[in-house]
Amino acid sequence: MQVIQSVGQMQQFSENMRTQGKKIAFVPTMGFLHEGHLSLIDYGRKNADVLIISVFVNPTQFGEGEDFQEYPRDLVRDCEIARKARVDVVFVPEVLEMYPKDFQTYVTVESLSQPLCGAFRPGHFRGVTTVVAKLFNIVKPHIAIFGKKDFQQWVIIRKMVKDLNLDIEVIGLPTVREHDGLAMSSRNSYLTKEERDSALSLYQSLNMAKDMVASGERNVSQIVCKIKDFILSKPYTKIEYVKICSPDTLEDMETLEDKALLAMAVKIGKTRLIDNTLLEVAKEKANATDHVKIQNP
Ligand code: PAF
Repeated sequence: MQVIQSVGQMQQFSENMRTQGKKIAFVPTMGFLHEGHLSLIDYGRKNADVLIISVFVNPTQFGEGEDFQEYPRDLVRDCEIARKARVDVVFVPEVLEMYPKDFQTYVTVESLSQPLCGAFRPGHFRGVTTVVAKLFNIVKPHIAIFGKKDFQQWVIIRKMVKDLNLDIEVIGLPTVREHDGLAMSSRNSYLTKEERDSALSLYQSLNMAKDMVASGERNVSQIVCKIKDFILSKPYTKIEYVKICSPDTLEDMETLEDKALLAMAVKIGKTRLIDNTLLEVAKEKANATDHVKIQNP
């Protein structure tokens, strides 16, 4: 396994692989790798000839007062995990090489970046799309793999790739959870034991929503109210948003239609966590009765 720091060397490596007709898979990360990342890495290993990951805590996607400085970092551990997972290259650029002093070009996916997390983290998705566009130009992958825990990020990147005619296949893989349902996240390492107990309310509330839908509830505000009450009944919780919206446009829904995204961001103490699930209401043709199929994205 190689660790490459320079943009030029990374581009040269990928160019050589492409010239040899090799298919390149890419998993962009901010490091502090966990099982969630490993599922993306595993997919890349199985579906390409060369597997590249990046480890870069991207400053432009953190707002003022957010956790850029505190974000957990452990490159030695990440490289060890990557080596065991048979990654070919770990790309670890310096901030100043990605963003030199005179940097002034940003990529923005307009409407999709506004709702949900975008409403609470101004500029966040501009930072994400800018760094991902840069990483795509540096790593030159054929496929790029993202986790659907960051559902909005995945939708936005898919749109960027489509709108800018980038010749890259964007894959979204399901959220990986701890044994008790907590969605894997590098930020889980911030949680105290008591906060972690409260953090379970996110996953539990997704299941609550599924049960409500299964028993015929179609009114979005009823579901959202019940979820908010449940989460707020746990200590240390502060809700940023709980929304049910179109999984394609991310626009709010009033009544549950055939497919909906339930997404939430909740602060547990100082730690901001997100989670989501897809709710699907399928109509049976024969007797036109509703039955509900729930999918974990
Ligand atoms: O999902 C993440 O870890 C980051 O947003 C990404 C895609 C690596 C860009 O910095």
